Amino acid sequence: MTRSAMQARSEGASVAPTTQRRLIVTLDGPAGAGKSTVAKLLAARLGYLYLDTGALYRAVAWKVREAGVNPSDAAAVAGVLPTTKVALEYRPDRPLVSVDGRDVTEEIRQPEISRLASLVAAIPAVREWLLPVQRQIGSAGGIVADGRDLGTRIFPQAQAKFFLDADVATRAARRHHDLAEVGQASRLEETRQEIEIRDRQDRTRELAPLVPAPDAVLVDSSALTVQQVVDRLSDVIATKL
Ligand code: DC
Repeated sequence: MTRSAMQARSEGASVAPTTQRRLIVTLDGPAGAGKSTVAKLLAARLGYLYLDTGALYRAVAWKVREAGVNPSDAAAVAGVLPTTKVALEYRPDRPLVSVDGRDVTEEIRQPEISRLASLVAAIPAVREWLLPVQRQIGSAGGIVADGRDLGTRIFPQAQAKFFLDADVATRAARRHHDLAEVGQASRLEETRQEIEIRDRQDRTRELAPLVPAPDAVLVDSSALTVQQVVDRLSDVIATKL
């Protein structure tokens, strides 16, 4: 994972103005708050690398399903990690995610994997396993990373931290729309329930729960367009460069 990711990071460096600091920008928040859309646009605007940390948890969840392991059995899940190889390969359009050499980019977006990812993300061994991977990719700066614990745990030293939220109806509608776009029909009410369950799990787990970092800027995107959110975050980032 690390080598191709680092390569992508240094490619990003070539388009950023050289006189400016290359920051670590973190975007945390619940599912459907618009983090990935905003993070991608921000990264493109700044010439930074976009790190989708949710994809890492999804990749582990995919492996756990493939291995036929109970996702709530912490010891069994920990047992599959040493033989798991997760790779993120950066491409201009969408990062390629592979597990043990198999392309899982599309499969990890299935609702079942969303549910499993939230379960395995509560297991300390999984979070420990993914921690150095994320730090190695991002610590040199020039990165926009999104997830749940980027500002609180992975990059507490980040210069620009955001917590993006939206009301649950808005988030469910967005997720429903995203799924339809990739040809996955879903029922809005079911999507809403899944989001609520996942939020509860992500917010109440013992290790690295979803909470805003004390120094994060809180943005409620319910009534904002994507462009308005990106502009608001860009204004804050501009003061740090
Ligand atoms: O952002 P996402 O929906 O792709 O994330 C999938 C799950 O992974 C989410 O329910 C919680 C977990 N996750 C996490 O615990 N910490 C992160 N930094 C990113 C994701």
